[in-house]
Amino acid sequence: MEKIIIVGGNVLRGKVKPSGSKNSALPIMAASLLSTEPIILHHVPRLVDIETMAQVMEVLGAKVEWTGDHDLRIDPVGLSSYEAPYDLVRRMRASIYVLGPLIARLKKAKVSLPGGCSFGPRPVDLHLKGIEALGGKVSLEHGYIMVNADELVGAKMNLAGASGPSRGASSNVMMAASLAEGVTVINGAAQEPELIQLQDFINSMGGKVSGAGSDKLTIEGVSQLKGSEFEIMDDYIEAGTYLVAGAMAGEVVTVEGDFSTNLKPVLASLEETGARLEVSEGKVTVHGNPRPNAVNITTAPYPGFPTDMQAQMMAYLCRGRGTSVIRDTIYPDRFNHAQELLRLGADIVREDGSAFINGVEELSGAYLMASDLRASAALILAGLVARGETHVRRIYHIDRGYERIEEKLGQLGAEIRREEEE
Ligand code: UD1
Repeated sequence: MEKIIIVGGNVLRGKVKPSGSKNSALPIMAASLLSTEPIILHHVPRLVDIETMAQVMEVLGAKVEWTGDHDLRIDPVGLSSYEAPYDLVRRMRASIYVLGPLIARLKKAKVSLPGGCSFGPRPVDLHLKGIEALGGKVSLEHGYIMVNADELVGAKMNLAGASGPSRGASSNVMMAASLAEGVTVINGAAQEPELIQLQDFINSMGGKVSGAGSDKLTIEGVSQLKGSEFEIMDDYIEAGTYLVAGAMAGEVVTVEGDFSTNLKPVLASLEETGARLEVSEGKVTVHGNPRPNAVNITTAPYPGFPTDMQAQMMAYLCRGRGTSVIRDTIYPDRFNHAQELLRLGADIVREDGSAFINGVEELSGAYLMASDLRASAALILAGLVARGETHVRRIYHIDRGYERIEEKLGQLGAEIRREEEE
């Protein structure tokens, strides 16, 4: 296993570019199974999660190959198996995105239940509700979701759950409905930019989807979807992570790319901390602000503050002036990073889905254990400003969602390296 070692204290300067969005690429890869012809995707990030999705698709009979550094060719012509096995799904929850396409193409699916993750339960009831509304007969057997559908028929449904809308469920049903008979209307849909990309991709194959970006999706089923070439958007969560790094440890750091609209609530919070931002077309520049003003953050479904940026902001607020509060309404227990930040000398108290971060003047390097993807990023950011060496273990989490993070931070001037653990 590998770990990342950071020697804190270097000042970051310069430019960095986010890779393509993992959370957009994953459902779009799955949606390629809807087509009967090959698909070319550009700006696909080189990440472990992408390789896992490629393996899931190959098990199903598709061919997936890299044709360039970030170009993926997917040939779905051989799609023949309807089973996504436990061994792959357990590695990545997003494997459940093949459910919708499988039902649409083969009228049958057997997909392992993805289970929870280290920060709490992650149910799939809304995915199943939507599939049932389209006429799928769903049962759970031996840890697998089994679906049979003689035919899929468009339906009207509401997919908002108790914690708000679900990106995964809205995407899965959008994909299944795109080849169903008639019109599907999803109220209470997730509004994330990833849904807009998925809609645009399905439409580029000849689909008829509208409304993405709002809470109401309309999908007019078509009989067949064709080959297409599509560009994945920039990863706005990765971009946000580098902006927070710049605020924490930077002099002036510019993150290039098209992400500022998608990152509005994060940019607003950064400004509230006192970090100076210059937002222009195709880039955002942040000026260093090592001791941020205390702020309160409550995560919410898009267009609210993303839960995927909460850990990184917590790392920043550890050196805040005063007490900041972070509340995660989507995953109330998503605070594994808090206990590791304590090891660096942070002062964080957790209470009922909230974390109270009492700012301290200094952090000091320590041995840390990463627990999930965004927590790993937060610990690395904290290491950039902690005195001495910080060792972040179980770094395989970071490779699921950040492409070459140590190289990108290294280019900005950080002293950071990857080593095999003894
Ligand atoms: C996606 C993102 C993940 C992000 C999350 C929340 C991908 C690959 N992953 O995950 O990085 O942290 O959105 O923004 O894009 N829920 C139910 N029933 C369901 C499905 C979800 O109650 O059937 C709940 C979840 O427990 C959670 C909320 O709905 O509280 C949002 O979940 P969802 O949007 O589905 O998250 P994912 O798509 O799994």
